[in-house]
Amino acid sequence: MPKPVIVCVVGTRPEAIKVAPVVLELRKFADQIDTVLLSTGQHREMLDQALAAFNLRPDEDLALMRHGQSLVDLTSRALQDLDKAFERLKPAYVVVQGDTTSTFTGSLAAFYRSTPIAHVEAGLRTDTIDNPFPEEFNRRATGLIASLHLAPTAWAADNLLKEGKDPKTVMVTGNTGIDAVQYVAASSDEAWLPDHRGRVLLLTTHRRENWGDPQRRIASACRRIVDKYPDTVLVVAQHRNPQVRLLLHEVLGDHPRVKLIEPPEYAHFVKLMQRCSLILSDSGGVQEEAPAFGIPVLVLRETTERPEGLTAGTAKLVGTDEDAIFRTACELLDNPTAHAAMSKAVSPYGDGRASARIRFALMNALHLESPTETMWV
Ligand code: UD1
Ligand code: UDP
Repeated sequence: MPKPVIVCVVGTRPEAIKVAPVVLELRKFADQIDTVLLSTGQHREMLDQALAAFNLRPDEDLALMRHGQSLVDLTSRALQDLDKAFERLKPAYVVVQGDTTSTFTGSLAAFYRSTPIAHVEAGLRTDTIDNPFPEEFNRRATGLIASLHLAPTAWAADNLLKEGKDPKTVMVTGNTGIDAVQYVAASSDEAWLPDHRGRVLLLTTHRRENWGDPQRRIASACRRIVDKYPDTVLVVAQHRNPQVRLLLHEVLGDHPRVKLIEPPEYAHFVKLMQRCSLILSDSGGVQEEAPAFGIPVLVLRETTERPEGLTAGTAKLVGTDEDAIFRTACELLDNPTAHAAMSKAVSPYGDGRASARIRFALMNALHLESPTETMWV
């Protein structure tokens, strides 16, 4: 009997980081399943860099990235090429993660072939279909056609149950991003700003709904923050998107205490987060990882699909108003008690065992036996 093939689809940096632990876990059962890591190549350098942190390379690479790719262009090319790859690989299950164009097209191409889909990080929701854009649509659409909904938290699972999903298809696993961050946390010994004795602030921003004016307000607020606190250095880990970089350079490029850097490789970026007093970010993954190290995060978005961090007190939703960002950052930088309260909060996103639970759910769906011990602490 040939072994069933599980195809794990990734396309962007966060998918690579969050799917890598699942691939490593599935490959422990190589006697029973073949695990294929398929990259759409929606991202290039950032994706390769993220996989390298886990010593992984795609088995299949559709190499789709084009500079300035539009959603329609990327979506249509991805569907065509994913269909051809699935025809060749004949997966018994397709695993997709999150809410990107690669997630959506990976699941739609599988659905058109009647191949079952496992959705990792299922059930995140805002109330608004076009915010975040287009991610809210992507994850809802994936949820419509997935057979297995692997929810990172009880809140996410509850969203799926309220939408009428069969409880037998929904499992709370924890977020694989926590597995990933634990995996790499000890693997970089490079120090950040070893000669700087003051505080380090970190900014990451790339979301489409923040392009243009919101990003300009974010950058201006950050400039005011560094100006107000002479002991601070602001590190800006730039996304490779040229549109985002231009604006950040324009507003922050000439400041002596602002360091605009290329995206650091994952393990080094994790070290950077650990060195920070405060993180300002519109990233989904950063919102989940920073609390694992007790670093307060200001979420630079109008809405978040990750309310658990707000409830736990590890993150604050500040939006993109310049004064609101400035004021909230100052409150934390001026007030050690408020800062300590956010740092002490406990991360609500996982215990580092999500991949073992996902492996169990997948193998169970394929009627294969696999151990349960590593699923629990
Ligand atoms: C995409 C995802 C978003 C995710 C983000 C993670 C969609 C619709 N959006 O953002 O959900 O949060 O990735 O980072 O799927 N580029 C490079 N090298 C790279 C990566 C990007 O040069 O390694 C440049 C290219 O010019 C590319 C542009 O950035 O055209 C934008 O990439 P794209 O994947 O379209 O980014 P977003 O949609 O903004
Ligand atoms: N990250 C990284 N280098 C960077 C910025 C982020 O390795 O310069 C990691 C980060 O730790 C997290 C993931 O990339 O795991 C988040 O990716 P991104 O912000 O691009 O996407 P999102 O999570 O918003 O979808």
